[in-house]
Amino acid sequence: MHKRDFIDLRSFSREELEQILLDAEAIKSGQKDVSQVLSGKTLGMLFSVASTRTRLSFLAGTRQMGGHAEYLNTGDLQLKNRETVTDTAKVMDRFLDGLIVRMYDMKSYGSGREALETIAANTSFPVINALDDKDHPCQVMSDVLTIKEQLGPDFRKKKVLLTWGFAQRQKSPGVTHSMMSAAALLGMNLEVAFPEGFEPDEAYINFAKKQAALSGGRLSFSHNMMAAAEGADVIYVKSWKALNLSDEDELAIKNSVRADWCLSSRHFEAASQHAVYMDCLPSIRGEEVTAEVKDGPRSIIFDEAGNRLYMQKAIMNFVFEKIKAPHHIPLFT
Ligand code: CP
Repeated sequence: MHKRDFIDLRSFSREELEQILLDAEAIKSGQKDVSQVLSGKTLGMLFSVASTRTRLSFLAGTRQMGGHAEYLNTGDLQLKNRETVTDTAKVMDRFLDGLIVRMYDMKSYGSGREALETIAANTSFPVINALDDKDHPCQVMSDVLTIKEQLGPDFRKKKVLLTWGFAQRQKSPGVTHSMMSAAALLGMNLEVAFPEGFEPDEAYINFAKKQAALSGGRLSFSHNMMAAAEGADVIYVKSWKALNLSDEDELAIKNSVRADWCLSSRHFEAASQHAVYMDCLPSIRGEEVTAEVKDGPRSIIFDEAGNRLYMQKAIMNFVFEKIKAPHHIPLFT
């Protein structure tokens, strides 16, 4: 069977995403045993960008599935000495059984995705996107698992607000794009709020609008965090870089809107009575969110982080199930 990469949720069907969610639940409850799925397999973790949660959950998940994951910082490979991504991928294909990649630079939107696609095109093993400049599919699938656990079987009807929050650092819009894709495919009720100038990539907006119409989901946009918080069951805060502004213009807008784009207890007064706060982390107290909310009773952020492990296992199970035969390394070509 042909290999399946896990790069962009737009490449998956609703049924496939639902199956991965069910598998993650079954793995978490102990009903599904995946302890031998990666037996004898060596995965690479090619990272050029810092990571705590994604790195650790893949490391632990691979080990718990019987395999081995080796952390490969791009700065320690010959990529540093201008060996091309294509040559690197072709060499990796001779040694590894799969690759988890976080390699992008927000100064050059789209170049991270290009590198990921180059790797995927030059390898015969599954490639998993551990966050690039366009998507964070593993994070968002894990977040949907958390939302489903939190809101119950009716989670599709409940209102999820994904709101931009102020941060000094320029962050990837990956969570926003992947959440729009997942929510639209699964028929969820999602509102996305952001200041003018911080619009998500139009290609993702168009995909999500079309899919939401097909799935019966709701998708709306707002430029007002307080208004968008009205009746929300989940408020998920995330900062992302403006995709079409110069650094100077972005900074000027960010500083002018900062006070209105820090999630606080005022927003929860407008939200539903049982609304929870989600955040993929890391976030700085006083930037995207107040310390009161982050450390308060609405916060489910560490349960959210913990679910990464079960979802990584479900995703690895999904892609490696497609390749049942061992990954043979040709001796001569
Ligand atoms: N949310 C997330 O991807 O965290 P890390 O950057 O620590 O992996």
